[in-house]
Amino acid sequence: MKLLYPNNLFIGKVAKFLSSVDSTNLFAINLLAKTKPIEGTVIYTDNQIGGRGQIGSKWESQAAKNIIMSVILYPHFLSIPLQFKLNQIVALAVYDLLSNYIFPLDQLSIKWPNDIYIGDNKMGGILIENKLKNSLISESVIGIGLNVNQTSFSSELPNPTSLLLETGLTNDRFEMLERLCEFLEHRYLQLKSLKRQNINDEYLQVLYGYQEWRDYEITSTKNIIRGRIVGLTKFGKLQIQTSTKQMEFSLKEISFLF
Ligand code: BTN
Repeated sequence: MKLLYPNNLFIGKVAKFLSSVDSTNLFAINLLAKTKPIEGTVIYTDNQIGGRGQIGSKWESQAAKNIIMSVILYPHFLSIPLQFKLNQIVALAVYDLLSNYIFPLDQLSIKWPNDIYIGDNKMGGILIENKLKNSLISESVIGIGLNVNQTSFSSELPNPTSLLLETGLTNDRFEMLERLCEFLEHRYLQLKSLKRQNINDEYLQVLYGYQEWRDYEITSTKNIIRGRIVGLTKFGKLQIQTSTKQMEFSLKEISFLF
């Protein structure tokens, strides 16, 4: 058991360490079905066996090497169409954390919607599972997987990397987790405050491929388009400008070609 001592008000003040679990997100969801944990409760583990990823994928993580955590939040102030704002602030909090470890900083980016990239490789993923009630978000489980000290990955993963592979340095995962709680709290309070408008600009500034001409594949037609990301809609759709028109895409509708 490892206790967390974050220097903040609520995220991580209550934390449950599990030596092994199927999925921290699932554990948090089951906890919410039975009790009302205080906001900011963190579930973290050394060994996640059935990690859940985006769009029904899996998240693999070697035991005792990485950050694997879920945070319980109650963002009642957010309407359902604005769910994407949560993705933005969580990705920015992970970015804030890693910007203390990665040099040069321009290698680090957020790939829409919320993958954490170093160069063209993925170092972290975020899975947010929300419960909705009366057009608002009543409960949110923020799942974060960050590859810290892992050096070998399944050959099936397209482009995994870790902090150790990128920097040659081993880091204390629990210390990083504590700092991440602080960045998360800071960003969550920003989302609650009037400074909310800045979030989109800050996100775009560090967005992978922003304003760069690239090829993208449209999922439904398999057509390749050339364009550049020019922004996001209010609801988090990706806006791509081609030489002739501007198009908008949701998560499953487009993929990046490398
Ligand atoms: C992705 O596919 O990129 C998202 C991966 C999210 C993984 C994290 S690890 C902690 C939490 N528990 C899970 O089962 N998934 C998330």
